[in-house]
Amino acid sequence: MLRTHTCGELSLRDVDKKVTLCGWLQRSRDLGGMTFVDLRDRYGITQLVFNMETLPHLCEAARKLGREYVLQVEGVVAERSSKNAKLSTGDIEILVSSFVVLNEAALPPFTIEENTDGGDDLRMKYRYLDIRRAPVREALLLRARVAAAARNYLTREGFVEVETPVLIKSTPEGARDFVVPSRMNQGEFYALPQSPQTFKQLLMVAGMDKYYQIVKCFRDEDLRADRQPEFTQIDCEMSFVTQEDILNTFEGMIRQLFQDVKGVDIGTLPRMTYADAMEHYGNDKPDIRFGMQLKDLGPLVKGKDFKVFDDAELVVAISVKGAAEYTRKQLDELTEWVKRPQLGMTGLVYARYGSDGSMKSSVDKFYGPEELAKWMSHCDAAPGDLVLILAGNEGKTRKAMSELRLEMGDRLGLRDKNTFNCLWVVDFPLLEWSEETARWHAMHHPFTSPKPEDFNLLENDPGKVRANAYDMVINGVEVGGGSIRIHDKTVQQQMFSLLGFSADEAQAQFGFLMNAFEFGAPPHGGIAFGFDRLCSLFGGADSIRDYIAFPKNNSGRDVMIDSPSPISAEQKKELGLH
Ligand code: AMO
Repeated sequence: MLRTHTCGELSLRDVDKKVTLCGWLQRSRDLGGMTFVDLRDRYGITQLVFNMETLPHLCEAARKLGREYVLQVEGVVAERSSKNAKLSTGDIEILVSSFVVLNEAALPPFTIEENTDGGDDLRMKYRYLDIRRAPVREALLLRARVAAAARNYLTREGFVEVETPVLIKSTPEGARDFVVPSRMNQGEFYALPQSPQTFKQLLMVAGMDKYYQIVKCFRDEDLRADRQPEFTQIDCEMSFVTQEDILNTFEGMIRQLFQDVKGVDIGTLPRMTYADAMEHYGNDKPDIRFGMQLKDLGPLVKGKDFKVFDDAELVVAISVKGAAEYTRKQLDELTEWVKRPQLGMTGLVYARYGSDGSMKSSVDKFYGPEELAKWMSHCDAAPGDLVLILAGNEGKTRKAMSELRLEMGDRLGLRDKNTFNCLWVVDFPLLEWSEETARWHAMHHPFTSPKPEDFNLLENDPGKVRANAYDMVINGVEVGGGSIRIHDKTVQQQMFSLLGFSADEAQAQFGFLMNAFEFGAPPHGGIAFGFDRLCSLFGGADSIRDYIAFPKNNSGRDVMIDSPSPISAEQKKELGLH
C-alpha cells in the first residue's frame, strides 16, 4: 500500500506515530511561518502542517500545490493546539517531513467541499468530482450499507439471489419500454426489463422457493424527484405463501434495515385499506406523520343555494391546527396555490374558528353560525383552527386536497425527516378504468390475483374486485409494492381477456408464462422495493438522484458521458435501422 493510514482514522492515540497518508488536497492556508493543508480521502480529512522554519524548502514546495492535487505525505502525528470538533481527526495534525505529488489536477470547475458553489448541471457533468464531496459520498456509502443489510436479512431468511436477463421482450402493459435493436435478428427488438416480474414468477415454477435480486429496472416515463429511467429494486418472490406471510417477512426486513442503518425501531406497521387511504388522505400513499384528515362536507353543505357546493361531486375539508389567524394575504396565496394548473381548482373556501370561539367563513352569505358550528365539529376543528374546503369533480378535488394537506403539513413543520411512519396499504382494486384507452388496466400488474371472495364480481362488476395487492408506504412515499400472483392458467387467461387481449395476443405476449403454469406452478407472491427511494428516505432527502452514483437529469440525459447520443450510419446499417 502507498499509505499506512487513511485520512479519517488518526486520533490522539496515534500521537508521535510516523505515518504515510494519500489523498486529495482540499484546501491550503498560508499563515506566514506555517502552511496548513486539508488532505481528503473517502474516510475523512486530515490536517497537514508544513513548517517554514524547520523545513523551508518543503514548505515552499507545498505552497505551490493546487487544489485536488493527489499527494502522498509522510510525517508524524501531533496533538493540535486548536482542535476541530467537527472532524473525527480534529484533535491531531501531521507534521509533514516529505511528500510526493502522485498526480497534478486541473482547477476544478466548482468547489469540492461540503458546501459547493457548483450548480446542478455542472455537478452532474463532473459527477466524479461531486462524489468527492462528503454529502454525495456519504449518500453512496449509505446506499451500500442498506444493500448489505438487505442482503444479510434476505440470506438469513433463506432467499437466494438469482440474476435475470436484461435483454428481454417488450410487453404492452405498464410503462413505456426502452428497446434495443437486434443485429442478429434484424427488424426485431429486445426490451429492457421494467422489472423482473415474469422471470421471478418463472423461478417459482422452477422451484427456487425464495428469490431476491437487487436489480436495475428501466422505465421510459417522465422524470420526477423520486423517479429515474433506470432505478434499482430489491425484488423478491416466495412460494407457498399467503399475503400475511409476505407482509410479515418484509415488515421484518424493513424493521431490520431501520435498525441497522438508522438505529431506529419502527415497531409494528399499521395496515390501512386502499379505500380508507383514499377517503381519509386523498391518496394511496398517505403520509401519516400527521393527522389533518380529509372530511367529506357534502351532506352538510348542499341545498343552500351556493352553486359551487351544490354542483360539486365532492366537497372536502381539512382543519389546519392553529391557522385561524392566517392573514388575507396568506389565504389569497393559498387560493392561487390550488388554482395552479397542476391542481386546477377554481377556488378555495375557508372558515376560521377564532380563538375567542367566533366563526367566520368566506361564504357567510350562504351559511350561518349554526351551520359553521356543524362544519367545525365535523372537521374536529378547535378554537384557533382554520378549515380549508375544496369542491368539484371527485377525483381532481380529492387529489388537490391531498396535495393541500401535504403543503399545510410542510408549512406547519409536521413532516420531520427524522420521524419515520411506515404502513401497509392493502386491498387495492384489481383494475382501474382508463378513459383514454376506454378499457380496464391492471392497477398493479396483470399477474396480480383477485381476492377469492371477490371472484364472483369479475364478470359483471370488475371495478369492484379487490386484489391481494399491497404497498409499503413510508412518510408519504411508496417504497414498495407487490401482490399474490395468479398461478392458474385459466384465471390468467380471464385476466388478459378483461384487459382487452384476444386469446392470440395473450398467447403471443405472455404464452411463455401461461405455458409454464401448465407444469405445476406453486401458489406464490412477492414484492419489490424501490431501493433508491428507500435510500433517500434513510438519508432524509427528497430526490433519489444523490443516492445514485451516476443519475440522469430531468431530460433523461447523462450529461457526463453525453448520452443518449446519435450513432453512426454504419452502426445503424448493421442494425438494420434506417
Ligand atoms: P412497482 O412498479 O410498484 O412493482 O415497483 C416497485 C417499486 O419500485 C419503485 N419505483 C421506482 N423508483 C424509482 N424510479 C422509478 N421510475 C420507479 N418506478 C417504481 C417504487 C415502487 O414501489 N414487479 C412489481 C413488484 C411486484 O409485484 O413484486 C413492480 O415492479 O418504490
